[in-house]
Amino acid sequence: MLHTAIEQRLHLRVLEVLPDASLDCLRLRPCADTKFGDYQANGLMTLAKERKQNPRQLAEEVLLGLDVADLCSSVEIAGAGFLNFRLKTEAVAQMLVDAQQGDALFVAPASHPRRFVVDFSSPNVAKPMHVGHIRSTILGDAIARTLRRLGHTVITDNHIGDWGTQFGKLLIGWKTDLDRAALDRDPLVEMGRLYKLVNARFEADDVIKGQARQELVKLQDGDAENLACWREMIELSLREFDKIYQRLGVRFDHVLGESFYNPQLKGVVQALVDAGLARESEGAIVVFFEDIPELKENPALIQKNDGAANYTTTDLATLAYRRETFHPDEVVYVTDGRQQLHFKQLFTIYHRWQPSDTTVLSHVWFGMILGPDNKPFKTRTGENIELGWLLNEAEERAFTTVTEKNPEMPESERREIARVVGIGAVKYSDLLPNRQSDYVFSWDKMLALQGNTAPYLQYAYTRIRSVFRKAAELGWQPGAARFALAMPEEIALAKHLLRYGQTLEGVLSEYRANYLCNYLYDLAGLFARFYENCPILKSEGEERNDRLALCELAGRVLKEGLNILGIETTEKM
Ligand code: ARG
Repeated sequence: MLHTAIEQRLHLRVLEVLPDASLDCLRLRPCADTKFGDYQANGLMTLAKERKQNPRQLAEEVLLGLDVADLCSSVEIAGAGFLNFRLKTEAVAQMLVDAQQGDALFVAPASHPRRFVVDFSSPNVAKPMHVGHIRSTILGDAIARTLRRLGHTVITDNHIGDWGTQFGKLLIGWKTDLDRAALDRDPLVEMGRLYKLVNARFEADDVIKGQARQELVKLQDGDAENLACWREMIELSLREFDKIYQRLGVRFDHVLGESFYNPQLKGVVQALVDAGLARESEGAIVVFFEDIPELKENPALIQKNDGAANYTTTDLATLAYRRETFHPDEVVYVTDGRQQLHFKQLFTIYHRWQPSDTTVLSHVWFGMILGPDNKPFKTRTGENIELGWLLNEAEERAFTTVTEKNPEMPESERREIARVVGIGAVKYSDLLPNRQSDYVFSWDKMLALQGNTAPYLQYAYTRIRSVFRKAAELGWQPGAARFALAMPEEIALAKHLLRYGQTLEGVLSEYRANYLCNYLYDLAGLFARFYENCPILKSEGEERNDRLALCELAGRVLKEGLNILGIETTEKM
């Protein structure tokens, strides 16, 4: 049997009374304050307006016809015409019994699964991944995991920046200054050095400028030597990126870099010109948006006056390819906020070009990571922070804390815990803020065992696990429970578990992972209150069994929720 979440059941009951109301308008949301109830339907007001009816009167009519006695202990009309539902403890218990026996764990799979392409991470070849790519990688991965958990089909594609003018400069550096030994040691650092070397002379030196242009043209024309160098740069870069992805537990179904679309670019430009959507302007080919106020001042270049296509052209070709190959219902792009204009232009051009295509295009953008000085996060010497270094540092710092707490633990075990905690802390601190605001990076805050942090949640998980270790020592296993839920702390925890699925849906509705972070933080808090007020191992018989089973469900949701954020757990900390 498919799991139906309790808010869905209530929703359907309301719809039975109002059969011609639209499905969406009566969705139930968790009450912000449980003083008033557990779930609230506030859509009646909109419906009453549509029907030119008094909202309170409509609410009263609904209440008269509504039959939820098996699920709710009370339904009340509040304010201008909300309905507040309070769940019956028996109904809550039944949901827990179902979860304990099935594997749905409070999540109802999407009734209409959709196909998604998620475009994220997308670093640039020959450059180390920087903090901008961090956020894309972490958030994109969490989005992909959430989509999969709700039963959608997800295709992840890493749109690597492996083409463009930077290769002109890189090729000069590669041919004149390459230090092979340094390249072996750390390819991205060496390539970064070569780039900077040439770049520093570039602006002031017309000879270098000319050379860079020539090298680029040779590469574009398929010159064997330049192609070989370029391929090596890509291969080395991908190998380095993969090391990071492995540490982060991130994987991609496809890694189709920008260069993959080169053969399509001329055709895209031609198609847009033929369709009358693009025209020549000062030697370049341009799309204008006269009719769109916010884009009016920002026409998009799709071919420069030297005949080269660019980022926009490539993204148009990519979209056409994805449509033909993957048939997605939606394409989600995860990048920093500075690319908002690019994606507005891209989506607008694409819709004009393919007016009958209904693929939803979403740009999920995020703000910057700031240093302690509130300026973009950089090293002391003003360099971009490198993701690999950041992860090392996080693990090292976590190792110090773990060692302080468990000096007698074998080092390999402490290292493993530090890895899970360090990487979890970096990820969580990135997912917790509202994605569109900038946040200040702080080691102390993210690694703290108190507060809304990954280590706090991971620690809560180890506490749950330790209950089971002790229980096992005493010979107890959680068996089928009845969930009497006699204590308020048990009820509060149980009701929170019931909201897990709806939380995941909330994450997807706005692509905001922080909703899940806050849900898990509340879960850990409610668990702590339960743990302090309701003896588990010291209780007896069915009560002990019930509490062990509640503990188990809380542990499963906590572990799974962290996993959806891409964060691992350990048995001990
Ligand atoms: N490589 C780009 C960057 O580092 C991000 C690419 C995002 N994806 C896309 N389809 N444009 O800024």
